[in-house]
Amino acid sequence: MKRDFLNISDLTKKEIEEIIEYALKLKKDKFLDRSLENKSIGLVFMKPSTRTRISFEVGVYQMGGQPIYIQGSSTQMSRGEDIKDTARVLSRYLDGLVIRTYAHKEVEELAAYSDFPVINALTDYAHPCQVLADFQTIYEIFGKLEGLKLAYIGDGNNMANTLLIGCALMGMDVSIASPEGYEPNGKAVVEALKYAKETGAKVEILNNPEEAVKGAHVLYTDVWVSMGQEGEKEKVNVFEGFTIDENLVKKAEKNAVVMHCLPAHKGEEITEEVFEKFADVIFEQAENRLHAQKSLMSFLFKK
Ligand code: CP
Ligand code: NVA
Repeated sequence: MKRDFLNISDLTKKEIEEIIEYALKLKKDKFLDRSLENKSIGLVFMKPSTRTRISFEVGVYQMGGQPIYIQGSSTQMSRGEDIKDTARVLSRYLDGLVIRTYAHKEVEELAAYSDFPVINALTDYAHPCQVLADFQTIYEIFGKLEGLKLAYIGDGNNMANTLLIGCALMGMDVSIASPEGYEPNGKAVVEALKYAKETGAKVEILNNPEEAVKGAHVLYTDVWVSMGQEGEKEKVNVFEGFTIDENLVKKAEKNAVVMHCLPAHKGEEITEEVFEKFADVIFEQAENRLHAQKSLMSFLFKK
């Protein structure tokens, strides 16, 4: 049966560990895996992208496949063609689909009505490809995931939802600090709590950044205004006190690192000073998008 990757919990803890190990091998030898030979992979983007689009295009090429970039606004989907019809048409041409869009239920519908693996390249609810690369990065730095603590400071958006579920699944403690009313999605909290019961991870949803970073090995943040929320710019006023600055970093574990999925709005969710101090980690995360996604595709397309 085909496997999709719509959220991080579409993989088990063991599968994520295997995908990370293999991503580290691919990082050393970019043409090692050719499992996309003779395969055409569609990349549909309804929102802008730098990292995701380019790393997928390059990754599919390095694995011997044909990447087909499809700008969302150029498709009939943007004129209201049914998702389920689009899925059934694309299944007749393509071997796999990577899609970035707004509503999460659209990728679920695409996956339900198509014959090929569907990969979520970001929805308003989740960004699992980013979290896979982030876990690879954390593993490279600390040699493990289990037993670490990640503190996410900022908007309870797609990144917060996915990190919350992913950390609980991998046995990492996770604290999210967001302003009141901007906490992560309730569905993500319920799912995280379910995994936390199995792995023993501690899950906290807080409104206080200083409390969240206590004992944290990883501090993580993302923009306060996500793609699709451009009309809500005044939202940033609510986030006063939620900037990752030197002072906040000092309150975490001694060797803590700061991570960011990018793009960053320096001076809002992170200071320029902290960003530059942890630039090596942040750009390693960006690089790992390529390796983690290639490893993921190798896993999904071998099935
Ligand atoms: N982090 C991330 O997904 O970046 P892009 O929006 O540039 O793809
Ligand atoms: N939360 C951000 C993530 C960008 C990678 C957004 O959805 O715009």
